[in-house]
Amino acid sequence: DGKKLIMDDYILVTGGAGYIGCHTVLELLECGYQPIVIDNCCNATCDGVESTPESLKRIKQITGKEVTFKYIDLLDKPRLLALFKEFKFNAVMHFAGLKSVNESIAKPMDYYEVNIGGTINLVECMKEFNVKNMVFSSSATVYGPPVKLPVAETHPVGKGLTNPYGKTKFFIEEILRDLANAEEGWRIMILRYFNPVGSHISGLIGEDPQGTPGNLMPYVAQVAVGRLPILSVFGNDYKTHDGTGVRDFIHVVDLAKGHIAALQKLSEIEGSKAINLGTGHGYSVLDAVKAFERASQRDVPFKFAPRRPGDLGCVYADPSLAEKLLNWKASRTLDDMCVDLWRWQSKHPNGYKTEPNGNLKTS
Ligand code: WQD
Repeated sequence: DGKKLIMDDYILVTGGAGYIGCHTVLELLECGYQPIVIDNCCNATCDGVESTPESLKRIKQITGKEVTFKYIDLLDKPRLLALFKEFKFNAVMHFAGLKSVNESIAKPMDYYEVNIGGTINLVECMKEFNVKNMVFSSSATVYGPPVKLPVAETHPVGKGLTNPYGKTKFFIEEILRDLANAEEGWRIMILRYFNPVGSHISGLIGEDPQGTPGNLMPYVAQVAVGRLPILSVFGNDYKTHDGTGVRDFIHVVDLAKGHIAALQKLSEIEGSKAINLGTGHGYSVLDAVKAFERASQRDVPFKFAPRRPGDLGCVYADPSLAEKLLNWKASRTLDDMCVDLWRWQSKHPNGYKTEPNGNLKTS
């Protein structure tokens, strides 16, 4: 049914306790939707087993609105079916999944089971309850090494993928495209993220990687706050203006707003649609480090190290389809991202495990 989403529809948000997920849950609440969040908290901070994750408690602090949270793993199909019996969902926003490139190389079967198996369970439940509106969290990694820049949605996908994580995103996209081609009524937005960075302006929610960060900016922020000694810049011999890798960094709040825009346009599409969520600007690793030093007024010592296997040299998006189809455009600059990231990191040197006095939570 092509009916527009009415404001009090329930929206199922899988993985809503995570970095991108919780920023999107916040935007959903601000727009009057009723998100129902499920998460297995494998990458979230919770006081106790099955308790509400810290990130969702902070959302109540920011918005004054309660978030309905259910501790459900997508691999637990009976509990997932029970949830679809309990709530009439108008749409599903699917973030849940394992996301570490390095870990996926060491544990490919975990990634195939969780990311693909979990998505198949979810889609089977949606089908059984005739819920056919979906926004899927994909990644620019599906493009592999870009043959043309900026990268548009017409760029080939699935070629030269260097890690199981990226392959799961590609395989899931293919599953969703085949499903939408085979059955009437599916409306699926496949959103390809470039490099999400930053935090909500409150400084109360943010990226909180478990263990040593794999991604650049959380690593830079932990060096600035004194949790890590020095940044290793992986390669300075790329064909870029300063030899270091170039990426399309996008503010996580712009990214979250892009999800709301996609949700609201679902009724206007048929089948599946892949869309880039990027800014169209490429910044190098050293550009980003310098921007963060300006924002934090802290030194970020670094040393050059060998290239990281599988890394690409230069990637940035052609964001024009999102602008045309979703009427959405990223507006926050790299400096905004760094200012907002520093506000989160300086208030929470140890992420959600930080006591009010800045010390590590002992519990
Ligand atoms: C960015 C640049 C590194 C760390 C990955 C995933 C992608 C998405 C985003 C999940 C590169 C350099 C990094 C460091 C460094 N993840 N770098 N020192 O690799 O573009 O994308 O994260 O959805 O799917 O592939 O992001 O932040 O790891 O690296 O020099 O300690 O920073 O070489 O040039 P990437 P990244």
